[in-house]
Amino acid sequence: MIEKIMKRFFLLIFIAISAIELLAQSAQIVLPLIPKPKSINLEKGSFVVNNSTIILADKNSFEAKYLKECIQNYYGFNLSISENYVKDASIISLSLAIPDTTVFDKEAYQLLINPNRISITAAGTNGLFYGIQTLLQLLPLEKNKEIKVGCVNIIDAPKYNWRGMHLDVSRHFFQKAFVKKYIDYLAMYKMNTFHWHLTDDQGWRIEIKKYPKLTDIGGWRKGSMVGHYNEQKIDSFLYGGYYTQDDIKEIVAYAAERHITIVPEIEFPGHAMSAITAYPEFSCTGGPFEVATTWGVFDDVFCPKEETFTFLEDILSEVIELFPSQYIHIGGDECPKTRWKTCKNCQSVIKREGLKDEDELQSYFITRLEKFVNSKNRKIIGWDEILEGGLAPNAAVMSWRGTKGGIEAAKLKHFVVMSPGSHCYFDHYQGEPKNEPIAIGGFTTVEKVYSYQPTPKELSADESKYILGAQGNVWTEYINLPENVEYMALPRMAALAEVVWGTANTKQYQDFEKRLTKHFDLLDHKGINYSKSIYQITTKVSPNKDGSGILLNIATAFDVNKIKYSFDDEPLNLNSPNYFSPLIIDKNTRVKVAYFENGKQKSSTIEQPFYISKSTGKKITLKFNASEKYSSGNPFALVNGVRGDSVRRQSDWLGFRINNLEATIDLQKLTPFSQIKLNFLKDPANWIHYPKRLEIMVSEDGKSFITIGVVGGDDIRAMKGNVTINFTAQNARYVKIIAVHSGKIADGNPGVGSDSWLFIDEILID
Ligand code: ACM
Ligand code: ZN
Repeated sequence: MIEKIMKRFFLLIFIAISAIELLAQSAQIVLPLIPKPKSINLEKGSFVVNNSTIILADKNSFEAKYLKECIQNYYGFNLSISENYVKDASIISLSLAIPDTTVFDKEAYQLLINPNRISITAAGTNGLFYGIQTLLQLLPLEKNKEIKVGCVNIIDAPKYNWRGMHLDVSRHFFQKAFVKKYIDYLAMYKMNTFHWHLTDDQGWRIEIKKYPKLTDIGGWRKGSMVGHYNEQKIDSFLYGGYYTQDDIKEIVAYAAERHITIVPEIEFPGHAMSAITAYPEFSCTGGPFEVATTWGVFDDVFCPKEETFTFLEDILSEVIELFPSQYIHIGGDECPKTRWKTCKNCQSVIKREGLKDEDELQSYFITRLEKFVNSKNRKIIGWDEILEGGLAPNAAVMSWRGTKGGIEAAKLKHFVVMSPGSHCYFDHYQGEPKNEPIAIGGFTTVEKVYSYQPTPKELSADESKYILGAQGNVWTEYINLPENVEYMALPRMAALAEVVWGTANTKQYQDFEKRLTKHFDLLDHKGINYSKSIYQITTKVSPNKDGSGILLNIATAFDVNKIKYSFDDEPLNLNSPNYFSPLIIDKNTRVKVAYFENGKQKSSTIEQPFYISKSTGKKITLKFNASEKYSSGNPFALVNGVRGDSVRRQSDWLGFRINNLEATIDLQKLTPFSQIKLNFLKDPANWIHYPKRLEIMVSEDGKSFITIGVVGGDDIRAMKGNVTINFTAQNARYVKIIAVHSGKIADGNPGVGSDSWLFIDEILID
């Protein structure tokens, strides 16, 4: 009896310890899985993979070969694929059977890792593929003779059917090899739709046998924009490229094996400069045109004449042959009606068809081609502008100008893919713009993407069924290299993948972030140039109380004391000092900061030059308020030691719409100086103009000022806004600077007659 009790007692203790162990284990184990599976149950023990592990699967299974190849590439193991059970072998089995899920889902899978076997079970090969992706994310990164994977039972299925990523290959062209890599990234995150933006004003990228000039002429442009659009600089290098139909077939097949559908986009009626440069007869004016060298929206578009429809139907026929996707994307966005309004042919079509206006003409254009696509047993999808003038009867809508178009379409019982600029445009900045490579604009952090909910609250349960899913867009005006695509797409793609998989929980962003930082090790391992902007190192300058220079305050969402810094040419590395309190900056210098953890630099390095003068950090007041849009209108921006960036203007600049700049700086005591430097911006495209005149005044008491210098508009222009004024030696406490606003925009400039902007940055007094 005693013995029995003792045994049970020990057994109970043993169970208790195991349970505690397991609890402790699950409390600290963060599986680096993205997207997060629906259900994860950690179990005790681990499975060992080594050179003699067998993949038990159908010999012809792509998934088995794929798994074999991945493990070969990672670890050098040469696993054999067997259709027959091998006694005592360590086995990874891939079986087609309905997994143990509560609701049947054709994409569902179960990944069960036991000490003696890994089983992936799914109803379809796509489910098997997803199970493999989960397994691959669980494998250790260290190479070894054998590797261990912890036991776990994962049951998983996605929420949305359209788990998409887009890539614009017109603004910049990406070689076949990189397109495959991009498809691999989608596959890693169990995304299933690749929207391939193949044509646009700046280049036609798909071979069409019947119209060779589309690529021979339309595939090449004479130059490209350098820097930001605002700078209006264009180089003179011939730029272009295209995919042959063989390339396309190869990529479509590559994607299909990875359970990714490619939805090709052929743009009409707008964004057609490359096509009408090659075939000007399909425009309203007949041209001649040039493939666009600048970004933007162009007035010359397809003209809805009969020959144009034949041309586009021929193109669509070849496209449909190449792409087995249910949907063909026809663009439809940003089509100006300028030419149509004055085109005899367009107006006669409006009359003939009894259309109300040019919006209805656009709808007629798209509906006609929809009929053609439908006749080939396919459907069209277009950007939300296709709602204007009436939606084609069977069209799906991709909602990009917010969610309004998507909501409207769903209410009309049309299918919708959500891709609003606010959350899904991965060409936007993802961190503090001044620390990021030049982007088109916007601000869409990983956290913001993660917070996205594709099904709008405005829809009823019935209407919600029309939301197919969501998609991230990578427009490439400012993305010219594969590594830059990686930077902009990742990790935002990972965040969106979890959103469309349906396991993202906005309230648990921290949980996602924990998995993501671990997942970064895998991205490092693969050599992917992902963005580290989640470390979000932000710097803020404040006055130094003792009056000399400024204080540099550094912050991050992570542990701020793990930030290290260095000055000027000192290297920034593990030996650099850690940040504990604001840095005093009292002379010209360049500060570098980065986030370090576990002996490794985690963030990118942020570098900030400082320009320190006698006015830096001093009290500055404005007579008239600056616009709150820039630097929140805070005049301290003018004496913070940081010079405004000519492209990224959200911070450091002050902008005045109508008012003069009238700033008074209190140097706190009588101060000798003989030079003032000021910087003004000119960007007529954005209505920003130099001031008409500049006046500098000084005072000892802050009440009575005398003028010590005046600079005229011609001199400001001659100095290109970088104004330096030298004086005879001065000794003053207060310096007043008046920059007279240029007023209404003059003839010959964009926005003529409107109020211009005056932009000024740092004021340096020495
Ligand atoms: C778009 O961004 N023009 C769809
Ligand atoms: Zn026309």
